[in-house]
Amino acid sequence: MEDLSAKYLSRIADARDEAALEEIRLAAVGKKGEVSLKMRELGKMTPEERQVAGPALNALKDEINSALAAKKAALGDAALDERLRSEWLDVTLPTRPRRQGTIHPVSQATEELTAIFAEMGFSVAEGPRIDTDWYNFDALNIPGHHPARAEMDTFYMARAEGDNRPPHVLRTHTSPVQIRTMETQGAPLRIICPGGVYRADYDQTHTPMFHQVEGLAIDKDISMANLKWVLEEFFAAFFEIDGIKTRFRASHFPFTEPSAEVDIQCSWVDGQLRIGEGDGWLEVLGSGMVHPNVLRAGGIDPDQWQGFAFGMGIDRIAMLKYGIPDLRAFFDSDLRWLRHYGFAALDQPNLHAGLSR
Ligand code: PHE
Repeated sequence: MEDLSAKYLSRIADARDEAALEEIRLAAVGKKGEVSLKMRELGKMTPEERQVAGPALNALKDEINSALAAKKAALGDAALDERLRSEWLDVTLPTRPRRQGTIHPVSQATEELTAIFAEMGFSVAEGPRIDTDWYNFDALNIPGHHPARAEMDTFYMARAEGDNRPPHVLRTHTSPVQIRTMETQGAPLRIICPGGVYRADYDQTHTPMFHQVEGLAIDKDISMANLKWVLEEFFAAFFEIDGIKTRFRASHFPFTEPSAEVDIQCSWVDGQLRIGEGDGWLEVLGSGMVHPNVLRAGGIDPDQWQGFAFGMGIDRIAMLKYGIPDLRAFFDSDLRWLRHYGFAALDQPNLHAGLSR
């Protein structure tokens, strides 16, 4: 047994890498290893012999196993040291002049709209993309039987049998963040919530994942007029067109009353879309005065507070502003597309220097 111990301990000490170490492990304590085979012989021994050989073999096995573990850790450390020595990056170097990656139009539009709303006193709030159906529907005054649930082409998360946690969905809009923010911040409130949303839909202007920005302002005397001013101010800044015309159309959403859909002025010339001219209209968002049931669900007293909310498609306004014809390309990760439509990484949009250059 001492021979076995000496033999394997020295082989372990000499092992150069993890593969060699694994070979030694198999040869010694693997299923058909030398030590394992010896242990199997215990059955054939007399009880007296077994009393001596048993503990000795177990001790040998422990000794080899702990030598293997120690060597494995040492080899791991050495491998890490080697990687740290060979893979390094000087983060103080200037960027390369050739443009490599670019900022995606959705990120660019998000930065731009955040800068504009920040100027108007809105801060950014966020919520989870996987949310309960309570936040996504019920709290927004959309009860279980409501047709809006079907209209939204919701993706439901799979549930294991016997799982009785509340059902979860991929959020179909950013409106659940209204409720979450009311709960955590109370009134008054002035926020936007940009982020990804999901619906089972796919064509030139619809993809199963897209982006919205929710707006929510709650105070004692907020009115539709404030909503209209904020949105017109926003469109003029975002599209960089003073006096761009908007059209508010009466509409219906379960979570706002009254509700309005908003179009912006546009024209089609030679199949090309132009924003801010002509007599055509393009729908860009849904909005309205927050329904009292929604305020109540968020823990805010509707007799004291009122507010407006809107939800706008970020991909949609990015397509309009940058003249991108097909929404599906947004999610193809095609580098040629990104080089064409992307933005320089170091240009931070802000209102003083200009939003996009
Ligand atoms: N959540 C609505 C949608 O996705 C948009 C909306 C938001 C409408 C807020 C009114 C108020 O279609």
